[in-house]
Amino acid sequence: MKNIVILISGGGSNMAAIVKAAQTQNWKSQFSAQIAAVISNKADAAGLAFAKEQSIPSLFIDHKAYASREAFETQLMQQIDTYQPALLVLAGFMRILTPAFVSNYEGRILNIHPSLLPAFTGLHTHQRAIDAACKFAGATVHRVSSELDAGTILAQAVVPILPDDTEQTLAARVLTQEHLIYPKVIASLLATKATMATSVK
Ligand code: GRF
Repeated sequence: MKNIVILISGGGSNMAAIVKAAQTQNWKSQFSAQIAAVISNKADAAGLAFAKEQSIPSLFIDHKAYASREAFETQLMQQIDTYQPALLVLAGFMRILTPAFVSNYEGRILNIHPSLLPAFTGLHTHQRAIDAACKFAGATVHRVSSELDAGTILAQAVVPILPDDTEQTLAARVLTQEHLIYPKVIASLLATKATMATSVK
């Protein structure tokens, strides 16, 4: 059984979409893979409650309780590695990761970013796209590299930006697409060994 560990910081709707995909008959008949754990750096992350309801091992690791980013990551890695994940999935995990952390999971760590990368790395992507008078926005699933939001692009979804869009309406439109592309990418990585990095067993 391949384990997938998901890191979140908030609502966890992408995580929930992946969990739901993993519960389908289609998934179960094709893959021997499970969502082994959900880890949040925020105690009040709504996603943690959802994961608990689904009886998925859920863990809160408070980054503020550690003196340094490295100390937090050491603890995080220790917990993640308990599950020996084939895939480590960042889903709204709002901590910048050190190159050492990223290289520990090289080839098996993914992220979803709410813009059409390489445009609008970082935060406030929707407002920035509106301010730039972009006609389209979207989301990108990418491999995680040591440079922020810069790893290999695996999938993108495009939505129109409408004249009366606000940051919130655009974010909601993009999010519905995120929920489709993230599970799809994960399924295709599980299905296609050839496209997977060496560390995905
Ligand atoms: C998503 O828009 C994702 O692209 C970004 O943070 C948001 C997380 O949403 N990285 P959720 O926690 O999955 O609902």
